[in-house]
Amino acid sequence: MTSATHAPSEALNQAPTTAVSTPAIDTLLAHRTIRRYQEKPLPNEVLTTLFDVACHGATSTFMQQFTIIHVTDANVREQVFLSSGQPYVGGTKGDLFVFVVDLHRNAEIRRRAGADLEPMGRMGVFLQGYQDTMIAAQNMVTAAESLGLGTTYLGSISNDIERVIAALQLPKYTFPAVGLLVGYPDQHPQYKPRLPRELTIGTNRYPDLESEESLKALAAYDETVQEYYDLRDANNRVDSFSNQVAHNMGKGKALEQDYLTILHNQGLCTQQ
Ligand SMILES: Cc1cc2nc3c(=O)[nH]c(=O)nc-3n(C[C@H](O)[C@H](O)[C@H](O)COP(=O)(O)O)c2cc1C
Repeated sequence: MTSATHAPSEALNQAPTTAVSTPAIDTLLAHRTIRRYQEKPLPNEVLTTLFDVACHGATSTFMQQFTIIHVTDANVREQVFLSSGQPYVGGTKGDLFVFVVDLHRNAEIRRRAGADLEPMGRMGVFLQGYQDTMIAAQNMVTAAESLGLGTTYLGSISNDIERVIAALQLPKYTFPAVGLLVGYPDQHPQYKPRLPRELTIGTNRYPDLESEESLKALAAYDETVQEYYDLRDANNRVDSFSNQVAHNMGKGKALEQDYLTILHNQGLCTQQ
């Protein structure tokens, strides 16, 4: 059993295929992160559509606990760039959005209704908001890619979360989950192969990672990943997936932030 992945090398220039094809499925399989954009902002009607689609995702208990901030002010973008440090976050190429977990709006509604604000501090409610926020972001990604646009998720905006919170004037009960660039691509990266189904899909139980089939599938996948060229370092093929996990996991400023303290300062996750 193989996943919707590819044979090595040149095949990574083609989007993977799968058993059943629709325009939506083709768009999803043709995903690849774009990190260089043309100097061409998104037209207003595209922006409107991206917002409408993002806001139309499923939302846990219908609470709609996210807000999308479109960063158009150069000074604000500079602050997000200073937090991220990634060159394509700064400047003017690609439209920049920040997807914010937002319990504030509902806190205000509860306050006006005379209801208590106790739920806002609950871990479960924060996770609910985080789920909504990422669904909204992925809806925007899929819609943008279906229009031939490129996208970059930006976890790196969390390299200095407090700077982003200040720059976007995020109130209590909000938290910036992820940044997103959307724009007209100015590069053609390869399609990064994904883990084989043996390791990622279980039937009735967690997959047997130690089975001969699984181990072989991982070894083959490690080989395939090394055929992928990362345009950020065009002279080098990437390391095997297993080596990336062994050496890179948890590294980077965004993953080393004091999240609990920052969340508590925002009034979030203060109780179970
Ligand atoms: C939540 C999230 C955060 C990410 N953050 C960054 C980022 O800060 N910078 C970046 O260049 N890519 C970022 N990425 C993109 C991943 O590196 C990329 O999706 C992954 O390497 C797979 O490559 P592909 O998207 O081209 O298939 C992020 C992706 C996700 C889902």
